[in-house]
Amino acid sequence: MTDEVVETVASHRSEQLAEQLPNHIVVVMSWADANSAEAWREQARVLGAECAFVQGATPALAEVLDECKDRQEIVLVPVTLDAALGKSWVSRIARWWMGEANWQGKMQMAPVVRGELERLPSREELTELRAGGAGLTNPAWENQPPVSKHVIVCQGPRCHAKGAAETMRRINAVLAREGMADTSVLVTQAGCLYPCNRAPVVCVQPDMDWIGPVHADDAEGLVADLQRGIRREAN
Ligand code: FES
Repeated sequence: MTDEVVETVASHRSEQLAEQLPNHIVVVMSWADANSAEAWREQARVLGAECAFVQGATPALAEVLDECKDRQEIVLVPVTLDAALGKSWVSRIARWWMGEANWQGKMQMAPVVRGELERLPSREELTELRAGGAGLTNPAWENQPPVSKHVIVCQGPRCHAKGAAETMRRINAVLAREGMADTSVLVTQAGCLYPCNRAPVVCVQPDMDWIGPVHADDAEGLVADLQRGIRREAN
């Protein structure tokens, strides 16, 4: 064979191999993780993978799956910096999408990587996902919660840098201990709420009170005030 023919065969073979490789999608799991969206995108790019987000940034996982629809094999690689976060939403969304899109390929998921993503998973580490299962709806999610207060904890970049994730964890823990979580107080997270100079910022509705800084150690006091109906206007 001439050098030219050898080169053509080699290039054809590498194209074939590339075709056989599954699409890897790095799936960024939490809202707080999405504050570092650009860094995750770069980690995925370096590894030759797509990047998708479960919440807090784009593209959404379902959007990226739509783009990969022509592939026969997809590997999801869930990543987060949150040590406590489960991975059920990644598999739920993927299995729901497979059913909606009537996708017949092979979907696999790697174990959650908690920290920087340094390599793609080996085939031995993967678990296969099947369409269907729990899905995105549940009878328990039909009605609004019977709460009188809505605490919105900013997870925007300034607040996140100043400890908003821990603030939210502690508020949730105190409310759970007091039996108030989702029964009298709903806690949700949001992007920038505007008065960033007072980070970490918390907004209490329907009072329209923007409070900050609210550090983790302030959670007990904040919940006690909510219990007693004391408003904390901007402090
Ligand atoms: S980042 Fe939290 S108020 Fe702006």
